[in-house]
Amino acid sequence: MNILMIASECVPYVKVGGLADVVGTLPKYLKKQGHDVRIIIPKYKTIDGVKYNLETLPYRLRVKVGKEEESFRLKTCMLDGDIPVYFIENMRYFNRLGIYGDEAGIGYGDNRERYIFFSKAAIESVKALMFRPDIVHCHDWHTGIIPAYLKTTHADDGFFWRTSSIYTIHNIAFQGSFDAETTVPMAGFLWEDYKSDKLEFYNTFNFMKAGLAYADIISTVSPTYANEIQTPAAGNGMEVVLQTRKDDVYGILNGIDYSYWNPQTDKNLAANYSKNDFSGKILCKKDLQSRCGFNLSENTFVVGCVSRFDNQKGFDLIMDVIRKTQHLDIQFAVLGSGDRYIRDAMLYLKSIYPSKVNVFNDYNEALAHQIYAGSDAFLMPSLFEPCGLSQIIALAYGAVPIVNKTGGLADTIKDFTSSSSSGNGFVFNLYTGENLFDKINTAYNIFRNKNLWSKVVKNAFASNFSWDNSVTEYENMYNTALNRRIAYTIYK
Ligand code: ADP
Ligand code: GLC
Repeated sequence: MNILMIASECVPYVKVGGLADVVGTLPKYLKKQGHDVRIIIPKYKTIDGVKYNLETLPYRLRVKVGKEEESFRLKTCMLDGDIPVYFIENMRYFNRLGIYGDEAGIGYGDNRERYIFFSKAAIESVKALMFRPDIVHCHDWHTGIIPAYLKTTHADDGFFWRTSSIYTIHNIAFQGSFDAETTVPMAGFLWEDYKSDKLEFYNTFNFMKAGLAYADIISTVSPTYANEIQTPAAGNGMEVVLQTRKDDVYGILNGIDYSYWNPQTDKNLAANYSKNDFSGKILCKKDLQSRCGFNLSENTFVVGCVSRFDNQKGFDLIMDVIRKTQHLDIQFAVLGSGDRYIRDAMLYLKSIYPSKVNVFNDYNEALAHQIYAGSDAFLMPSLFEPCGLSQIIALAYGAVPIVNKTGGLADTIKDFTSSSSSGNGFVFNLYTGENLFDKINTAYNIFRNKNLWSKVVKNAFASNFSWDNSVTEYENMYNTALNRRIAYTIYK
């Protein structure tokens, strides 16, 4: 199959969150299955052309955003040696320091124009490259209008006659909702397609709704989240749209790249270790304690957190438990960036409890690895979590996750109790500060019992969320989409 991934992030070139990990990793596994996979992302200013050996292709292409013509170039390199990645380069939209917003965390005022441009440019690029996709796989709101283009403005374009589209929701909280009056003409759609079963969404133009209405198949990143988003509690208003297409909604769990997230070979760590010999983890713990300016004590319970600063991630509960656990022998190592209110509140906690709380306001890949490796437990009490990769990475590093039972956290972490001894983490059931506090206490007491703690750590290490498990589900989904398209074309 010819598979084209179109997204706004992809590791190792640009990453804000787990979307980048998925877009840069799933293709490697599809490639191993024999598919021709290619990726298109924007050429953000922060992507280092020299480091990645980007080559400029000899095209000068143009698309229209509203009435304005925008030209762009294509750069390219190979991911993992054999997966072509194409970067759409345009100075006006992508030559700035931030990805979605400025340093203060304020979203760019022209994100609508930026991703209309990017979506149109991606379509023109595959045509220029003569890469006929069987599957166009679009991710998150930034690319939601692409399935709509394929069925409206490009419905009669022979180039795409056998192309099916997949739209994957990584986070339903970000939908790309804009006023219709200016957006419909800016994106180049016809008003006749601005209807409630198509582009219209409560009198707005909503990029995600476009993807949900027009994609041949919709997916999201865990089975539990696939069910949750069909309810008013988690659907962010999209539940009815999803319910109408419920037979086309797939929930496929993300995996991680265990060759990258591997404490045995990880070069960022003070010492390497494996599930069979985790003596090196103690050195990593000391290294983390010293980076944090904490006492170097093996018996202290070190709780790590690596996260976007966002309400989704449960920082209200985290702040609450940091205060309430000050009487315990516990240290919190937090790395995060994003929302400035959360940042300021977390930095305030660091200032009043400097010997027990450190907060690094940064996006720092090496430190993230050091926290996963140096922590005994990993805190992720998200309010909602489509899948979550951090808890899976924490498992790989033997840091036991403490999570809320929601979305992908519910699908990957099972509660450990001293009586059953099964379970790879600690799971609380309802999103409240008391429930998180109780779970941290449980984990803390189990940590005090070396025998029991080594059991839960073993269970964490034994968990396996490799892409090998999920890639077949993606292939099956792609096949279903393709067969439908072929049936539709013959019928037409
Ligand atoms: P989300 O995509 O919602 O942010 P995930 O758990 O799916 O959550 O993925 C988060 C990814 O981003 C993980 O790979 C995590 O290690 C990384 N990450 C998050 N915040 C930071 C940070 N401040 N510095 C480095 N890596 C981070
Ligand atoms: C989103 C979600 C996260 C998920 C990631 C990759 O950012 O918040 O739960 O793991 O996408 O799918």
